[in-house]
Amino acid sequence: MEKKILLSQLATDTLKGLSSNPKYLLSKYFYDDEGSRIFQDIMNMPEYYLTDCEHEIFSTQKEKITQAICAGNKLFNLVELGSGDGLKTKILLKHLVEKGINFQYTPVDISAKANYELVESLKKELPTLQVEAKTGDYFRKLKTLNGHASIQKIILFLGANIGNFSENETTEFLSRLSTYSNSGDKVLIGFDLKKSPAIIMEAYNDPHGHTRRFNLNHLVRINRELDADFDIRQFEQQTTYNPQTGEVKSFLISNTEQTVQIGALEKVFHFEKWEAVFMERSRKYDIKTIEELALNHHFKVVQNFTDQRNYFVDSLWEKI
Ligand code: AVI
Repeated sequence: MEKKILLSQLATDTLKGLSSNPKYLLSKYFYDDEGSRIFQDIMNMPEYYLTDCEHEIFSTQKEKITQAICAGNKLFNLVELGSGDGLKTKILLKHLVEKGINFQYTPVDISAKANYELVESLKKELPTLQVEAKTGDYFRKLKTLNGHASIQKIILFLGANIGNFSENETTEFLSRLSTYSNSGDKVLIGFDLKKSPAIIMEAYNDPHGHTRRFNLNHLVRINRELDADFDIRQFEQQTTYNPQTGEVKSFLISNTEQTVQIGALEKVFHFEKWEAVFMERSRKYDIKTIEELALNHHFKVVQNFTDQRNYFVDSLWEKI
């Protein structure tokens, strides 16, 4: 009789990805504690322009954003999907609080630790702010956030996280966002824009090796959590950029023919020499495509907030 094992989501997804041809792993698993630390290193390096651009947008255009999201002084719920440390959002929160705007803040994050730290820091920095953090997968949490239809929602989805979705995931995410929004609700989404490929490649093929470590840490996580024996010295990291699709793609490439055992799956996986595992996509957009995405999901673009160099846009949409 076949033995049945209860698999975690990581185990199920790893099994699926490494049994596929070509092989892939899901980038959402990059963010264990070590992965989140490495991502901080990525965000701090000068080549990774995305964080600086969005920071600039929030710092220099907070008043314009405030005017665009506030209709009168009616109470609204500012929901942030994937809030993390809320660094950029705090600029806006502080401005809204100083202006005496009537709102509550609902950060949603998969990490209970990140939520706890964010709430604690907000208690100190903005003691009058009403905060109710929610822990969980924002893909799933969207439904529960639509509880009070009478209170307008402003949903933030920052940091170009949308660029990490596949085309199907983007459609599913925006369809859900649309289904669980009421007419007049708004969303502010961060998109990284197409630009010189040289600038994009520097950000993802960084000279410090942080991106390489970020990818390899996924294998280390599988070793630890799924009892596997990946030897990370036997994988090289490679990034490509396709200026037509706007997709940056990251791969781990086996530099030798090898087998890897994954204890939790009771399976052995074979890698050919130079076989590539697809790890992550980071899509770059143009304004026309963003406008089409909005319309296809029953939103209209209210305003685009771009940085001085036009590298990045926070696009404000309203549900029609
Ligand atoms: C989280 N996300 C928007 C980052 C990006 O730019 O796609 C993740 C990342 N991967 C490599 N560097 C940064």
